[in-house]
Amino acid sequence: MDMGQQASHADEHLALWGGRFASGPSPELARLSKSTQFDWRLADDDIAGSRAHARALGRAGLLGDDELRRMEDALDELQRQVDSHEFEPIEDDEDEATALERGLISIAGDDLGGKLRAGRSRNDQIATLIRLWLRRHARCIASQLLRLVDAIIVQSQRAGGCVMPGRTHMQHAQPVLLAHQLMAHAWPLLRDVDRLQDWDRRIDQSPYGSGALAGSTLGLDPRAVADELGFSSVTDNSIDGTSSRDLVAEFSFVAAMIGVDLSRFSEEIIIWNTQEFAFVRLDDAYSTGSSIMPQKKNPDIAELARGKAGRLIGDLTGLMATLKGLPTAYARDLQEDKEAVFDQVDTLEVLLPAFTGMVSTLSFDTQRMESQAPTGFALATDIAEWLVKSGVPFRHAHELSGACVKLAESRGQELWNLDDADFSRIFAGFIPQEKAPEVRSVLSTQGSVAARNGRGGTAPERVREQIRDARASVRRLEGFALSTSDGPAYRPPRHHTGGQEGTLRGRRESGVTA
Ligand code: ARG
Repeated sequence: MDMGQQASHADEHLALWGGRFASGPSPELARLSKSTQFDWRLADDDIAGSRAHARALGRAGLLGDDELRRMEDALDELQRQVDSHEFEPIEDDEDEATALERGLISIAGDDLGGKLRAGRSRNDQIATLIRLWLRRHARCIASQLLRLVDAIIVQSQRAGGCVMPGRTHMQHAQPVLLAHQLMAHAWPLLRDVDRLQDWDRRIDQSPYGSGALAGSTLGLDPRAVADELGFSSVTDNSIDGTSSRDLVAEFSFVAAMIGVDLSRFSEEIIIWNTQEFAFVRLDDAYSTGSSIMPQKKNPDIAELARGKAGRLIGDLTGLMATLKGLPTAYARDLQEDKEAVFDQVDTLEVLLPAFTGMVSTLSFDTQRMESQAPTGFALATDIAEWLVKSGVPFRHAHELSGACVKLAESRGQELWNLDDADFSRIFAGFIPQEKAPEVRSVLSTQGSVAARNGRGGTAPERVREQIRDARASVRRLEGFALSTSDGPAYRPPRHHTGGQEGTLRGRRESGVTA
């Protein structure tokens, strides 16, 4: 493209600040500046904002009744053209807002189309759009998380009274119910949904009307715009409204935290699925084969979740670094907020359904888990606590139980192989000789878990109670996940497949790896 052609394109398309500029942008600047490749997915929200803004202009007397009607028709037509891909950004459109203004003018004509920009800036526009977009996707991710929690709950109920080795430092520690171990992954995910709901309360303020930074002189009513866009109120400070991104960063933290929570669960599934553990089998539909080793069945979903956690953390870290040290009011650095959270949302929305599928089709080798549960002297604490209940100070009880472990270990035995004489000898001086063998009553895994019956413990009745409470939390949080962030006059965006959004949604992971 020669320079003359470029300048004329600039006149034609990049005229948002044409007045004082002798030439259009250099091609290098245009390429750097352009964001339509990622922000076009905000087009529907932008049109919704424009509709609300047009009505605010109408109420302020800046658009006549007839003009407003024609403007609304033009915006409907623009939405139709966006939906059908008849209208798409072209090379010279800097961002989605530039493209949509061009589209509107081509439909409504210069005079009418050119009126919509009054009293708003791309700064308050973009700050509003990212909020609208995130609020919608937060609900989608919340729903997906709740379906995952449902799957964990169903598996926990199926696991019934199955006991498994509980570990600390990856070493056998104390027996726990499989259901208890599984539910330990449900609670962090429920807190993530709770975080989203709580975040939504803070982000529920519209910056529309803040203008470039200081507000507008045109007497528009930001409250009405906020209302149409489904916000409960308007930001209190126009500089803050256009330039803060702490709420985007807060969303980004929750997304990264979800990644970390999924990654912890993944690691467990990956280890349980090894030949050495053999606690769990993955369903064929949710595991992958190897292109060279026919025997392989790989936990790719769990591994991808673990890997993608790194990427989700990276998005948050990059965003935080972008925000650090910015002058207060809009700076173009802020354009960098979007790709970080778009990537997080795309990542989670494609990951969560696969993860839920994997979890709900896991099959556990409960016999193997039960047989491993008491091994590795996992009942040593039970011996110590039995002694405590018989009046022995814990410091001594710990030592006496340790002596039992030492003796059993030296014989290559487990604790329950010690005989009555062994217990009587070890406990001598603390427990009457004839009572000592009664310790055997706690040397069973069922007895061990049943005894841990304080709130939050692994006793079956406590775990049943915990599952009931988790279900209630799911129901409560569903109120948020299934709610709509859209106000009465808000037209829900239809999914146009032009952006990355559509491609990622439709993509299926292929099944074979090395
Ligand atoms: N595309 C920008 C963003 O995403 C908004 C445009 C603001 N541009 C400006 N020169 N004030 O943040």
